[in-house]
Amino acid sequence: MVAKDGHDNKPGSLIDSGRRRFLVALSSFMGGIGAIYAAIPFLSSWMPSARAQAAGAPVEVDLSEMLPGEKRIVEWRGKPVWIIRRSSDDIVRLKKAEHLAQLRDPNSAVTEQQPDYVNALHRAIHEDYLILVGICTHLGCSPTYRPYLDQLGDDWPGGFFCPCHGSTFDLAGRVFKGVPAPINLEVPPHMFINDHTVIIGKDTTGKAV
Ligand code: FES
Repeated sequence: MVAKDGHDNKPGSLIDSGRRRFLVALSSFMGGIGAIYAAIPFLSSWMPSARAQAAGAPVEVDLSEMLPGEKRIVEWRGKPVWIIRRSSDDIVRLKKAEHLAQLRDPNSAVTEQQPDYVNALHRAIHEDYLILVGICTHLGCSPTYRPYLDQLGDDWPGGFFCPCHGSTFDLAGRVFKGVPAPINLEVPPHMFINDHTVIIGKDTTGKAV
């Protein structure tokens, strides 16, 4: 018998109609899943900042509020980069002959450790601001900041101390003689776009490196 709505009311027909509804619902659901997967490449292209950061996008830092002696840390290419504002006394000490005699590479002769546009003695573009990769050149520990005179003994001029094996570096990141670290701390590529704004990861040509 055929009902008014056009459905055959036999038990077998009721089962077929139930199956049809189930199959229609299932194919809609699968279609939805397919649409989500198809959208994933577009979703990832909408998130360039995370990918750019992982790839090492340059980092711009405003230094205008920094006081002499202050240290900041930013991340660039997954590494800690230190920015230290040096005082005028710090800068004078970095150039004294008796201080230079204590250092393994006082004139930055190992050229891989800094871009060629930084000063060989104070190792900066703008002498007030020291910018270093905060990783010890011995076995990669993170040195601590010890800025005060005599903080590590009578003739300590201020600088950095690595707690892993005792390497010491001055306030230009130059390594002292007689410690395990073989070379100076690394100065990353950087450039100033005005007196107090630096971009880490771009050099003086304005190119990201
Ligand atoms: S890792 Fe710094 S002294 Fe060894």
